[in-house]
Amino acid sequence: MSYDHPIGVFDSGVGGLTVFQEILKQLPRERVVYFGDTGHVPYGGRSPEELIRFADSITAFLIEQGVKLILDACNSTSSVALPYLQARYEIPIIGVVEAGVKMALQVTRNGKIGIIATEATIKSGVHRRLILEREPKAEVFGQACPLFVPLVEAGNVDGPETRRVAAEYLFPLKQAGVDTLIFGCTHYPYLAPVVQEIMGKEVALVDPAVETVRQAKEILIRMNKLSEGIKPGFNHTFYVSGSPEQFKRVARQLTGLGLIEEVKQVILD
Ligand code: SIN
Repeated sequence: MSYDHPIGVFDSGVGGLTVFQEILKQLPRERVVYFGDTGHVPYGGRSPEELIRFADSITAFLIEQGVKLILDACNSTSSVALPYLQARYEIPIIGVVEAGVKMALQVTRNGKIGIIATEATIKSGVHRRLILEREPKAEVFGQACPLFVPLVEAGNVDGPETRRVAAEYLFPLKQAGVDTLIFGCTHYPYLAPVVQEIMGKEVALVDPAVETVRQAKEILIRMNKLSEGIKPGFNHTFYVSGSPEQFKRVARQLTGLGLIEEVKQVILD
């Protein structure tokens, strides 16, 4: 496989674009094939079996597109499906959970770490487990935020309903005195201004995309597969299982990027 093969990124919808945007910053010469499973979004209330099935067929699809590495940019599937995918496929597949945990442990001062995520991710307990394995004295506070993904998918990132729902979800974490909050869902960084306003500026918000992409870069360097050939900003491909128009509209609104040009619909299974 040659170095100019693309990187595969997948998510339930537009959330993985936070990881795509980080790839543009850290790996500007790489080409991305993105799959947003918008026909099945939200993933957060789904069972582990369903999430494994979705992640499996998306991974197989991305491999068919010739990707050299896959970023599972969805915390719900990273929490429950990643070991399965890594055992089944030979190419490197990186999730977003470890990265968030690593960053949070680096920035917390009082050891009180909050996680906001989908129900599937919170139920999996994976953030709590990884944090306590590395820092047994840490205190971990998880909060499921099931309405956040539908709000972001609708492009509603700072309206009155979003603010009301966010205040409700974040209240227990404020009460607990967390000084660090992990975005345990890749959709949530698009809510960062609202979340920061509610939590206060002294609370550090952790977007796992930064460390996830750093890890991807390290792996590509090690494998000698960093791309050198593609002009920055071109040739990315976007696939969705739902409406391409809806994805394109919201993706452009959230990212401000005109380069999300062509979005194709693919129904897997
Ligand atoms: C969702 O579709 O519920 C969000 C996926 C994620 O956990 O990032």
